[in-house]
Amino acid sequence: MIRILTIIGARPQIIKAAAVSRAIRGRFSGSVEERILHTGQHYDANMSQVFFDELGIPHPDYNLNVGSGRHGEQTAKMVAGIEDVLLSEHFDGVILYGDTNSTLAGAVAAGKLHVPVYHIEAGLRSFNMSMPEEMNRIVCDRLSTILFAPTDTAVENLRREGFFDSRARFADGRTYSVVNLGDVMYDNSMYFAGIAEKKSDILQRHDLHPGKYVLVTIHRDNNTDNPERLTSIFRALVEVAREMPQYKLVLPLHPRTAKLLPLNLNPRVYEEFGSCRNIVCIPPASFFDIIVLEKNSAVVITDSGGVQKEAYFFEKPCVIMRPETEWVEIVRANAGVIADADTRKIVDATADLLSRKIDYPKVFGDAKAAEHILQYILS
Ligand code: UD1
Repeated sequence: MIRILTIIGARPQIIKAAAVSRAIRGRFSGSVEERILHTGQHYDANMSQVFFDELGIPHPDYNLNVGSGRHGEQTAKMVAGIEDVLLSEHFDGVILYGDTNSTLAGAVAAGKLHVPVYHIEAGLRSFNMSMPEEMNRIVCDRLSTILFAPTDTAVENLRREGFFDSRARFADGRTYSVVNLGDVMYDNSMYFAGIAEKKSDILQRHDLHPGKYVLVTIHRDNNTDNPERLTSIFRALVEVAREMPQYKLVLPLHPRTAKLLPLNLNPRVYEEFGSCRNIVCIPPASFFDIIVLEKNSAVVITDSGGVQKEAYFFEKPCVIMRPETEWVEIVRANAGVIADADTRKIVDATADLLSRKIDYPKVFGDAKAAEHILQYILS
């Protein structure tokens, strides 16, 4: 029996952890014991608790309740709290997900204490060093012993960074291992798609009809915190709403975006946005609700990495409101268009994707990534 500490903190990590946690409670119940630590980075009920409830994840054994704050301050509190837990109990390894400040803190705390780090979603790179997530990924990958890359591109990124011929040795004598066993998010989307359709009434609640609405999500700091970019994006949404009145636009608003809209959005665009009858703003969606929204949309417009992928899993085209993406497979398949925060590009890409037939080659594994990952850790 091995003992694993799973560290989560932000919304997407709770979702990713569900797949591995489910496999531990199922096929691996006799060989892996899991404890869950929640840093408290996300704390609103609709950013955290709702995912535990819907995805059936066990209640966290530890909650650090760090809350929001400056990145350094927030990360430092997490490092200290995680260190306390790792010193108080023995763990054979720590599982970390993605690229948030909670991931970074877990890697630093475990790395320093020589507890093996297993990084799920390793090797992703935007090559944009102004993103906090890019810094988090790079540091976490360097401190990890097993790097679970979700795509071949991620493996290739790590190869180019020298992970395959590194002479670095960890405390137990091991070197890096890098492996692509698929994407745990794909496991979840496939596992929960049918359940979500039965349980969610999000379409009825907002009078939405399959194929007749565009799903929009915006939360990245470089979009929400920059008045010019935010205004350019919302100008595009107003144009889409006006030029394509047959579609509704649905925006589940991340708390960061909701707080910053009145402060950073040009007042005229804010007013125009508010007066568009076919734009609907809703609170952050639960996992079942977002799955149903993605699955039945006509097109998705987003700056989220996870939503880009889920759109692809459900064979929906996607306009990417970032200057680049880590999920280059989606763009290569012509299922996603990088439009950044450019009003014209966002509107044109939306119209273009609505008019094209697209293929969605399977590039994210076999929807059993979590089981493969646990088997790999055990072996
Ligand atoms: C974090 C991740 C990002 C991920 C996103 C998913 C980092 C650096 N970024 O960004 O990679 O895509 O989570 O959502 O870790 N807030 C609330 N309630 C909450 C959580 C946040 O009101 O429960 C507000 C606070 O004003 C906070 C702001 O949102 O300051 C930003 O939250 P934070 O966790 O710092 O980063 P995210 O933007 O959510």
